[in-house]
Amino acid sequence: MTSRVVCGVFCCLFVTWYRMEFLIHLVMLSSLCGLITGYTDGDRVHDLMSKYPLIDGHNDLALKLRILHNNRLSKIDLHNVSKVSTDINRLQAGHVQAQMFAAYVLCAAQEKDAVRLTLEQIDVIRRMCTEYGELQLVTSAQELKTAEMKHKLACLISIEGGHSIDSSLPALRMFYQLGVRSMSLTHTCNTPWAESSSTLLYDFYQRDNNSLTGFGKAVVEEMNRLGMIVDLSHTSWATARAALKLSKAPVIFSHSSSYDICNHSRNVPDWLLRELKNNGGIIMVNLYSRFIACRDHANISAVADHFDHIRKVIGAESIGIGGDFDGAANFPVGLEDVSKYPALIQELLRRNWSEMELAGVLRLNFLRVFEEVERVRDELTGTLPSEAESPPEEVQNPCRLVLRRPDLGGVQSDKVVWSKAHNEPLGPTSLRLWAIILLLPSLLALY
Ligand SMILES: *[C@@H]1O[C@H](CO)[C@@H](O)[C@H](O)[C@H]1NC(C)=O
Ligand SMILES: *[C@@H]1O[C@H](CO)[C@@H](O)[C@H](O)[C@H]1NC(C)=O
Ligand SMILES: *[C@@H]1O[C@H](CO)[C@@H](O)[C@H](O)[C@H]1NC(C)=O
Ligand SMILES: *[C@@H]1O[C@H](CO)[C@@H](O)[C@H](O)[C@H]1NC(C)=O
Ligand SMILES: [Zn+2]
Repeated sequence: MTSRVVCGVFCCLFVTWYRMEFLIHLVMLSSLCGLITGYTDGDRVHDLMSKYPLIDGHNDLALKLRILHNNRLSKIDLHNVSKVSTDINRLQAGHVQAQMFAAYVLCAAQEKDAVRLTLEQIDVIRRMCTEYGELQLVTSAQELKTAEMKHKLACLISIEGGHSIDSSLPALRMFYQLGVRSMSLTHTCNTPWAESSSTLLYDFYQRDNNSLTGFGKAVVEEMNRLGMIVDLSHTSWATARAALKLSKAPVIFSHSSSYDICNHSRNVPDWLLRELKNNGGIIMVNLYSRFIACRDHANISAVADHFDHIRKVIGAESIGIGGDFDGAANFPVGLEDVSKYPALIQELLRRNWSEMELAGVLRLNFLRVFEEVERVRDELTGTLPSEAESPPEEVQNPCRLVLRRPDLGGVQSDKVVWSKAHNEPLGPTSLRLWAIILLLPSLLALY
C-alpha cells in the first residue's frame, strides 16, 4: 500500500514537471502511472466481474454431495467443503453470482428409480440454497437480478438428462413446479425419445433415424410452454438440430465447447453453432480438459482458443461459461476450481476481448436467453398442457405400472367389471382387479 502511494506521488510529480511541453508524454506517463500505482490487470478483472458477476451454466456439486455424503448436509459446512471444487467461499472468490446446479442421476437409473433419485437431488439443491443465508433459490430472470442486488448467490436448478422424467410430461411439469428451469434432453444414454451424443450406450433405444421422436418433439414444445430452458449439451447433433428447428425459444448448450478446436463428440461443430446463432441461443463453454484439449492436460490459453474460435464463428453475444466443476475430473492448470474464473477473464482481456463482450459472456447473454424463454412462455399462456404420451410399447418396463384397465382381449364381461369398479367404493372385487393391474407388468416380465 505504502509503495503504491509513494509511486503515485512520484509519478504525479513527474507528470507535472513534464506537462507543459510534452502532452503526448503525459498520456503515456499516465498509463505508466496506472501501472506503477498498481491498477493491475487483476484489478481490472475484479472491477469487471464485480459489475458483471458470473452466471455459470453447469455444476455437479449435488452429485458430489450424494457420492461423498449421501446428501447429509448436516455433516458439512458448505462454506468450505473438502474433496470438491465448489463451495460458498470459492464461489464468492470466483465472482460467481448465479450457478445452475444440476440435478443429475446416472443413466443406470433409467427404467428404475430415476424420478425418485432426481427428486432427491432437487431436494438437496433446494436445501443447500435455503439453509445458507448467502444463497438463494431463484426461478426467474427477475429473481436472479434481484438476488444480485442483495449480494446473494443465486441457485438455479437444472435436470441433466431426459431419462429423469421417465417419458412423462406430467413428471416434467411437476419438476417445473419444484423450481427446475432447464433440462438437457439426454445425458450419455438415449432416452426412448431422444438420441445422445454418446456412443457408449448406443444400443439402448437406438433406432435407424433417431433424433427426436414425436414424443421428443412434444417434450421440447412443453418445455417452451412451461418456460424451461432446453439444454442441448449431451445430445446427438441430429437431436440438437431437430430441437433447434422446433424450439420457439432460444436454447443453450449449458456445458459444451468447440468441436473444431477439440473433436470430442460432446463439443459443438461450427455448422451447429451457426444454427444456434439463428435460434438466438448460447453455448456455455465447458472447461473440462478433455473437451478443451482432447486430453487430460490443458492450460488457460487452450480454453481461450475455444472462446476466440466461437466468437469468430457466431460472435461473443452467443457465448457463456458452463464450467462443469465437480462433474469432470481434470481441469486446466490455473482453472482448478470455481474460484479461478477471474484467470480466464484476464486471459480474454489480454486477447483484446472488450469489456462489453465479456459482460455478455459473464451474464448478459444468459439473461437475454432466460428472459426470451420467459417471454415465449407468456406468449403461450393460452396453450393447454400437453397430453402427449410415448407409445406404451416403447416405454413399458417392469418398473413402470400402468394404471389402466388391462386389455383382456375384448371379452365382453370385462366392461361390466370395469365400470362396476369405477362406480363402487373399493370392495373385494375391485381390489382384486387392481391387484391384477398392478401385478401385470411383473407377470409379463416373468414370462
Ligand atoms: C477450509 O478447511 C480446511 C480444513 O478442513 C482449512 O485448512 C482451510 O484453511 C479452510 N479454508 C477456508 C477458506 O476457510
Ligand atoms: C428420418 O428423419 C427425417 C427428419 O426428421 C424424417 O423426415 C424421415 O422421415 C425419417 N426417416 C425415417 C425412416 O424415420
Ligand atoms: C480427431 O482429431 C484427431 C487429431 O486431430 C484425429 O486423429 C482423429 O481421427 C479425429 N477424430 C475424429 C472423430 O474426427
Ligand atoms: C498451453 O498449452 C499449449 C499446448 O500444450 C502450449 O503450446 C502452450 O505453450 C501453453 N501455453 C502456456 C501459456 O503455457
Ligand atoms: Zn454433463
